[in-house]
Amino acid sequence: MSADFVPPIRSDLTGVASYGAPQLEVPARLNVNENPFSLPPELAEAMGAAVARAAIDLNRYPDRDAEGLRQELADYVAGESGVEVPAAQVWVANGSNEVMHHLFLAFGGPGRLAITFDPTYSMYPEYARDTFTDYETFERTDDFGIDVGAAVEVIGSRRPTLVLLTSPNNPTGTALPLSDIRTVADAALGAGAMVVVDEAYAEFRHDGVPSAVSLLDGYPNLVVTRTMSKAFALAGARVGYALVGDPRVVETLKVVRLPYHLSAVTQAVAVTALRHADVLQAQVALLRQERDALSAWLIGQGFTVAPSDANFILFGMFEDRARVWSGLLDRGVLIRQTGPDGWLRVSVGTPDENDMFRRALLATTSPDDDQPR
Ligand SMILES: Cc1ncc(COP(=O)(O)O)c(C=O)c1O
Repeated sequence: MSADFVPPIRSDLTGVASYGAPQLEVPARLNVNENPFSLPPELAEAMGAAVARAAIDLNRYPDRDAEGLRQELADYVAGESGVEVPAAQVWVANGSNEVMHHLFLAFGGPGRLAITFDPTYSMYPEYARDTFTDYETFERTDDFGIDVGAAVEVIGSRRPTLVLLTSPNNPTGTALPLSDIRTVADAALGAGAMVVVDEAYAEFRHDGVPSAVSLLDGYPNLVVTRTMSKAFALAGARVGYALVGDPRVVETLKVVRLPYHLSAVTQAVAVTALRHADVLQAQVALLRQERDALSAWLIGQGFTVAPSDANFILFGMFEDRARVWSGLLDRGVLIRQTGPDGWLRVSVGTPDENDMFRRALLATTSPDDDQPR
């Protein structure tokens, strides 16, 4: 290695640290909103068999447009949200991260603006940076909703090409009323902007909370992104997808994706998971119950809790949240220091992990806590 070689790194990337939450081997890992349950053995076996079948043809490139998987996703959404979306209006990629990256490549770019409402998912500014898209955020309201009147004004005055709405939102867990999404989508339609509703946590929403998928029919500028990382317990497989109001959006995403972006192995695994969706839905039901029980417990203990339609809870308020975070870690429970100052976010774990979290939190926040800091 030559000592005087300086790699010609883009100036805006110099010194920038890569994204990533700690990956620590502790008894309760409740920091990245994963599904805490391993896959049921019969599903893991079925995936193994599907991968073995796909392996024979790995000398060939995969189905470039993942036609079979996109149809399976359309069928799943029809069952889950009661909305029929043609496969031509479904896109799939390596995690909803990559779907969002494709959306920025297609609808962002130099001289274009993406807007969203903070606090929200911390990856959005990175997609903007990578695609040379300008990025502006506007404050959410005190209850972590969106002031739609202000949003409509901003869309009219700032003229973004991308408006990102996250619902249920990360890190707050709060879902947006459909009427708010509709109002923003109307304003965006008038201003020629795309609206992306990031529904990574859709399956955890309470009964009666509608998905923005139900709006797709009326809005050619609407995109709803989803993921198999959470409800399908498939974070390790990297599968995310989008449902779009206009098939031309999918045709454009095909232009910007890398060739053969989704491996045959990934496609085989995802199709198998979708065919076992009912088994996984039982886990989701349990996680929703655990979430509501944990929220109620936190409130009962005197904490402030943001109402969550996701598989995590934002709670507080702490004068020194770093101290609480490290006190929990000392006790084997890893959560996330994120969101506005004073708040912490815990992912809903298995019943045992949630108990561990409850005990650790009480021990950490009780006045006679004697753990080292
Ligand atoms: C709001 C939101 N969107 C998207 C993602 C990305 O999910 P994935 O790339 O695993 O599909 C996450 C992950 O935590 C998220 O919280």
